[in-house]
Amino acid sequence: MKKKPLSQRIVNVASVPHRSPFRYPGGKTWLVPLVRQWLASLAYKPVQFSEPFAGGAIVGLSVIFENLAETLTLVERDENVGAVWQAILNGGAEQLIERIASFDMRESTVRQLLSSEPATLLDRAFATIVRNRVQRGGIMAPGASLMKKGENGRGISSRWYVQTLIKRIHAIAERKNRITFFQGDGIQFLRDNAHRSDVVFFIDPPYTVAGRRLYLHSEIDHHELFRVMTDVKGDFLMTYDNVGPIRALAAKFHFDTQEVQMKNTHHAIMSELLIGRNLTWFRIQLPQPGDYPLFKDFLRNGFGGNQT
Ligand SMILES: C[S@@+](CC[C@H](N)C(=O)[O-])C[C@H]1O[C@@H](n2cnc3c(N)ncnc32)[C@H](O)[C@@H]1O
Repeated sequence: MKKKPLSQRIVNVASVPHRSPFRYPGGKTWLVPLVRQWLASLAYKPVQFSEPFAGGAIVGLSVIFENLAETLTLVERDENVGAVWQAILNGGAEQLIERIASFDMRESTVRQLLSSEPATLLDRAFATIVRNRVQRGGIMAPGASLMKKGENGRGISSRWYVQTLIKRIHAIAERKNRITFFQGDGIQFLRDNAHRSDVVFFIDPPYTVAGRRLYLHSEIDHHELFRVMTDVKGDFLMTYDNVGPIRALAAKFHFDTQEVQMKNTHHAIMSELLIGRNLTWFRIQLPQPGDYPLFKDFLRNGFGGNQT
């Protein structure tokens, strides 16, 4: 039977190797096959792939691990999330790993850790990793609560995959010379890099509807983001919730849009919006790395496994 074009398939996230130490709310694992298709459609290999709203950075990490761009630049406003990237990329990976490996994961130790103000960047990074693993849905926004039953009734430690975390942190640290992290505002980063035609941008801002519940920093000026994108010389792909005000902004600034379906964590089919200058690559079927059996096997079984 002939395979459907990627644009009509609902991506099976289990087929995408998970590279991030985070289980990130609103994470874009499902988009990785489409990003491969986008990058394959370009006539050049980007010098830099940038994620100005990095979060768990699953897309950028996949690009670097699969060698689809020379370098990766991540920008994130949340200081806690940023601490994890800084620790891993700036020489603290081994210490972070030691903290993870030696942590006695119980409700009392978790409560104690998460109630104290971190004294160092490493303390902050470690507390963020723990918080992300023990709170419902990985949500780290104020007001999010600890998991009670967890997976298979295993309670608070049910997402505490020590060996997987260690492997992922090691693998990212091994590539640290190709990855740069900036703590700051993604829109300002876009303004500063708008003139660069050798950079491509993957833009996944906090969504207008769900953002507030999911992130500490959820308010951004969506109109200004769209306006800045008209100045950007490099190619870009933006994702958003498929809602009227965002479709209106895309139309106002003459961007191409495409609805795409994905399954959320509750297996409900959701419609999201891809936005770019020209999304023709989405509508035609290009060969995908995953279409070749050997590479597909590698992707399935490759480093990192699929625990999220
Ligand atoms: C939808 S999430 C990104 C998820 C990411 N693509 C992933 O797959 O893990 C949006 C992120 O933008 C961050 N953020 C919010 N305002 C920001 C700003 N002004 N500049 C940079 N990052 C910001 C949030 O903290 C959140 O991590």
